Amino acid sequence: MKKPNIAILGATGVVGREITKIVDELNIEFNEIKFLSSAKSAGSKIEFQGKEYTVEEAKPESFDGVNIVLASAGGSTSQKFAPEIVKRGGVLIDNSSAFRMDKDVPLVIAYVNDEDLRKHKGIIANPNCSTSQLMLVLKPLHEKAKIKRLIVSTYQAVSGAGLAAINELTANTKATLDNKEFENVCFKKPISFNVIPQIDVFCENGYTKEEMKVVNETKKILHLPEELPISCTAARVPVYNGHSEAVDIEFEESISPDEVREILNNSFGIKVIDNPENFEYPTTRDASGVDPVFVGRIRKNLAFNNGISLWCVADNLRIGAALNTVRLCKKVIEMELY
Ligand SMILES: NC(=O)c1ccc[n+]([C@@H]2O[C@H](COP(=O)([O-])OP(=O)(O)OC[C@H]3O[C@@H](n4cnc5c(N)ncnc54)[C@H](OP(=O)(O)O)[C@@H]3O)[C@@H](O)[C@H]2O)c1
Repeated sequence: MKKPNIAILGATGVVGREITKIVDELNIEFNEIKFLSSAKSAGSKIEFQGKEYTVEEAKPESFDGVNIVLASAGGSTSQKFAPEIVKRGGVLIDNSSAFRMDKDVPLVIAYVNDEDLRKHKGIIANPNCSTSQLMLVLKPLHEKAKIKRLIVSTYQAVSGAGLAAINELTANTKATLDNKEFENVCFKKPISFNVIPQIDVFCENGYTKEEMKVVNETKKILHLPEELPISCTAARVPVYNGHSEAVDIEFEESISPDEVREILNNSFGIKVIDNPENFEYPTTRDASGVDPVFVGRIRKNLAFNNGISLWCVADNLRIGAALNTVRLCKKVIEMELY
């Protein structure tokens, strides 16, 4: 198998740093690797596999000879560089929302809809973090009993909004405890000791863009009919890392909580912790820094026929961004799609 030249675009950001770690953890074999950022971090050093690399400012020429670009540098940066990457014969695996709903761009969770990768025309999109963790859970259940209706409520960590948001939680918490004034910048309301029912901007229908990402991306990845009812409420919580989701699913066919437990226990990338009598259920502290999507509180939903409710927790920087990006890179190499 030929080895690709790889570039990590946005290497100095929260997601980019995680991507770099996981390229090593998943033993991605490459010929050459380079680390790209904006002018701000250009010149800084990155230690990787025992070697020191200098971060370079991303320019069109940076992508000469690069086969696979793992990008987490924001939508406008991806939009700016995508044509340059594709023109040079490279494949862009993009973490931003810029191309996710483009019909020519496969939106893929590794081990869920890998075959969609074959349709790529130079760009592959990584789903939004709150959608990502849900897909590994829903895919095997959909295969068994067919989803009829879905309601998701998310409790999302600040790391999902980048490095500046992580720092804002710390500073805001200190200021609150010290009884000092604090001017919030990343969030519309103070994030310390608070829950904010807004992630991203509001759409005309009253949902936020984040909520509509869950609705639209879920349908695209699972190949669900456009008219299938899905609703989402997304909230930001004062947690550093790890998104939690309360999920209510109505199925076409009957499925019991025990069957759900058994299916998920045997599914790729899932760990079931579900023993409420002993207070065993997943929390963000279990999920932060590790790969599995954790599921617990599996029970019959009282509002739907054939309904199941469950609680799902995962590391949003890993499965929600970096881990899936690197898994997609691995699939692209294995399937020889570059
Ligand atoms: N955080 C998450 O959970 C998450 C999940 C899914 C997707 N994403 C997406 O991933 C992207 C990055 O998120 P993040 O949380 O890692 O943000 P971040 O911590 O703010 O990092 C942004 C990175 O992009 C680089 N960058 C910014 N403008 C650039 C430009 N014009 N040219 C080249 N590089 C540029 C920055 O370089 P400098 O160091 O030079 O500024 C930095 O390396 C966003 O699109 C975000 O929506 C994030």
